Amino acid sequence: MCGIFGYINYLVEKDRKYILDTLVNGLSRLEYRGYDSAGLAIDGDKKNEVFAFKEVGKVAKLKELIETEKPDLTKVFDSHAGIAHTRWATHGPPSRLNCHPHRSDPNWEFSVVHNGIITNYKELKTLLESKGFKFETQTDTECIAKLAKYLYDQHPSVGFTDLAKAVIKELQGAFGLLMKSVHYPHEVIAARKGSPLVIGVRTERRMKVDFVDVEFTEDGPLPAETASQNVALKKASGDLLTPATLLAPPDKSLLHRSQSRAFMTDDGAPMPTEFFLSSDPSAIVEHTKKVMYLEDDDIAHIHEGSLNIHRLTKSDGSSNVRTIQTLELELQEIMKGKFDHFMQKEIFEQPESVVNTMRGRLDVENKTVTLGGLRSYITTIRRCRRIIFIACGTSFHSCMAVRGAFEELTEIPISVELASDFLDRQAPVFRDDTCVFVSQSGETADSLMALRYCLERGALTVGIVNVVGSSISLLTHCGVHVNAGPEIGVASTKAYTSQFIAMIMFALSLSEDRASKQKRREDIMEGLGKISEQIKEVLKTDQPIKELCARTFKDQKSLLLLGRGSQFSTALEGALKIKEISYLHCEAVMSGELKHGVLALVDENLPIIMILTRDNIFPKSLNAYQQVIARKGRPIVICNPNDPEFKAGQAEKIEIPKTVDCLQGLLNVIPLQLMAYWLAVAEGLNVDFPRNLAKSVTVE
Ligand code: F6R
Repeated sequence: MCGIFGYINYLVEKDRKYILDTLVNGLSRLEYRGYDSAGLAIDGDKKNEVFAFKEVGKVAKLKELIETEKPDLTKVFDSHAGIAHTRWATHGPPSRLNCHPHRSDPNWEFSVVHNGIITNYKELKTLLESKGFKFETQTDTECIAKLAKYLYDQHPSVGFTDLAKAVIKELQGAFGLLMKSVHYPHEVIAARKGSPLVIGVRTERRMKVDFVDVEFTEDGPLPAETASQNVALKKASGDLLTPATLLAPPDKSLLHRSQSRAFMTDDGAPMPTEFFLSSDPSAIVEHTKKVMYLEDDDIAHIHEGSLNIHRLTKSDGSSNVRTIQTLELELQEIMKGKFDHFMQKEIFEQPESVVNTMRGRLDVENKTVTLGGLRSYITTIRRCRRIIFIACGTSFHSCMAVRGAFEELTEIPISVELASDFLDRQAPVFRDDTCVFVSQSGETADSLMALRYCLERGALTVGIVNVVGSSISLLTHCGVHVNAGPEIGVASTKAYTSQFIAMIMFALSLSEDRASKQKRREDIMEGLGKISEQIKEVLKTDQPIKELCARTFKDQKSLLLLGRGSQFSTALEGALKIKEISYLHCEAVMSGELKHGVLALVDENLPIIMILTRDNIFPKSLNAYQQVIARKGRPIVICNPNDPEFKAGQAEKIEIPKTVDCLQGLLNVIPLQLMAYWLAVAEGLNVDFPRNLAKSVTVE
């Protein structure tokens, strides 16, 4: 959901071509987060001049625009700050005007790129309009740049950090943002609240700093006035924002000052340094592996080669150290390689990604599962009153897929909730509940808000997350990283199968002490041990599925996907994949419900896919098959090899190897992923960037 990227060089000579290429390349790595429009701001040819380039559409279009505008690419900058953005529209339709960066005024005194939503932007806008500011876009972001200018004009001697603090204090909602200004050349402010931001650092020599201290600022004389401000701003009264008060120096005795961190040479001189700021490390890894993740409410100031982290308020007990970490990500992991699309690559990566999920955790020979991230909490979870799984979209489907196995192995009541609905209902949560948050990105706004809701009510929270360092992984008490590797395609594929396995391992851990479950646990572990090879087998259906799609679904308007028991979740997930990538309407139907209404749709023309692999409810699933056949339906059946129930001529078959019933969904989902992929390719659609969607949904 919007990608932001920044590049700052200090005492490292770079020409404009390099700076532009770095920014544009950073955006193209983040494009999966949003691709309605793209833009960037860099320094112009003269002092205090800013060049901004904005274009509707994908990053390639922005690149074309820059080429047509022909800026002097040879101009060399010793120090320079550039910011860039790729957008997924929330406020205002995609247009050049609404494209980021946004500016404070026609001279671009302040430029801002932003991911998230400023919920009080209308109040801020009304206030700033009353001060003479003219808004030119429909975005919420513009008010940030204009507020910065308004406050700066009252206090031109203020430092960039203090100004940023005053601005950020007024913002409600969620944001990851970068701000640059002609008044603070070569400096950048990066702030995060609810939207991820990571800073990469590259120095010529080995870095001397492996952590960054955080400076906590007591509010000093501000609270009385600022406390009333947000309320006052809501009333949009023109005079209540008082910059003089906002920017009054804090009481020094209350300042918890710690040393700023600069990157220095051995003799203490400033070191030539480059900083890369991004919504996600995949845009940084090709430049440096040394990164630092900002935490919520952090305000980072990059200035003359130093990186300082500030917070608005005094330490609340949270750590005052941000560690510089080494990324384990490799560039090739985020490249398409021999595949045409990231989605295709990620589907084909599943034999390895599932192994990575189990690596070092599942010992098939000795029949043990060890989940280090849960170790100290397993006993508490075993004693909890119920487990609530909370997630959105595909992650919700993976929870549905394992619900039966969880109930069976743990005998703890399980519920599975869509995060948005859970919050809408303000569902009851208690201290003895365990709430499990499942998310690929770890940043989905609905899931994050549900997590905060459960934390406030004292529940134990567990994260099942793919992105390391993401908000959900940081905020939950304990958890499991699914280790599927970076997932770039907007349609989630390998994260689904890895989440599925991570949760099955979780259930296996919880049931370790149950004697009556040992045989079943061993069967499941054995099944997991074979799953990677079986996925390879299933992937061999790729070309037949491509042909089947071309033959069967051409010019169709709708499609039914039937499943029962745990295969209903496979049907839900398959239908979501088909809808989001190929735009073909596809409805998942619980087979048992067919006769209660949907059967009316069935005739010889409607395409129907039925998941009919053998499990304990297979005879019941067959009833639905017979009902479809009796209405002249000609279903495509996903079944186990050589199943005598499905006669040639009656139904087209996709044969899938048999595994333990509760793992069968891991294999059955793959032909549906492939189907979605080939349907979209056949229609000439942009598989990795389906319309109106974004990878990480950080808005409500
Ligand atoms: C569909 C898809 C979405 C996500 C959903 C939750 O292919 O990817 O439905 O599953 O937006 O995202 P995460 O898992 O990042 O919380």
